[in-house]
Amino acid sequence: MRKQVIAIDGPASSGKSTTAKLVARRLGFVYLDTGAMYRAITLKALRKGLNPQDEKELTEIARNSKLDLIDEKGTNKVFLDEEDVTELIREPRINRAVSLVSVHKGVRIALVSKQKELGKKHNLVAEGRDTTTVVFPDATIKVYLDCDLKERAKRRMLEFKGKGMKTSLEEQEKELSRRDRIDSKREESPLKKDPEAVIVDTTDLTIEEQVDKVVQLYEKRKRNEISLSSSRGHD
Ligand code: DC
Repeated sequence: MRKQVIAIDGPASSGKSTTAKLVARRLGFVYLDTGAMYRAITLKALRKGLNPQDEKELTEIARNSKLDLIDEKGTNKVFLDEEDVTELIREPRINRAVSLVSVHKGVRIALVSKQKELGKKHNLVAEGRDTTTVVFPDATIKVYLDCDLKERAKRRMLEFKGKGMKTSLEEQEKELSRRDRIDSKREESPLKKDPEAVIVDTTDLTIEEQVDKVVQLYEKRKRNEISLSSSRGHD
């Protein structure tokens, strides 16, 4: 049977990761954090002192690195060439560089191909830019999580403060609108709402409500598919 894919897209800090992770856990699907893959490649590039414009070298890294996303007792770990980089890829220096690294066509082709392979093997909740459009255009269901810039900045500030980092609401608002701008204007797979995506505005929703909503949308789609195929069977 064809593997199920729930593809989730949306701007930075719209709650994609937390929602996708919890939806995957609830349905017993694998959580595919595509952003983590771009982040890991960015970390490797920074360590090598590469220029973020150097498409050739970056593409080499994306093609030849071993990336593993593993659910270890309920925590999602990211491994780069067997090294646990889960925490390192969330550092501010990665946030700053990742948008520049992920614009390159070669990098995207290499990572998209790794993502498609996973979609052949597992039922997935795939999260990230282009998962609804390029990686899984025939996903079972596509969801676009939207959210107000101010609310997103607040969420990100709380996340950073929780980790003991110093930041302000203004700084986060500025950083997020910079990322939105780069992510929506770039040539390769810009952030955009797929016409088939169901838009879920998360500004006033709790995480629990977001998860419920996505699970309900998926279950409804499955029910419709089943009833469609069984009615076809009676023709
Ligand atoms: O979702 P995130 O914040 O971890 O993503 C980090 C960056 O990676 C984001 O600025 C855009 C890029 N990205 C991408 O280009 N394509 C994806 N499928 C996922 C993320």
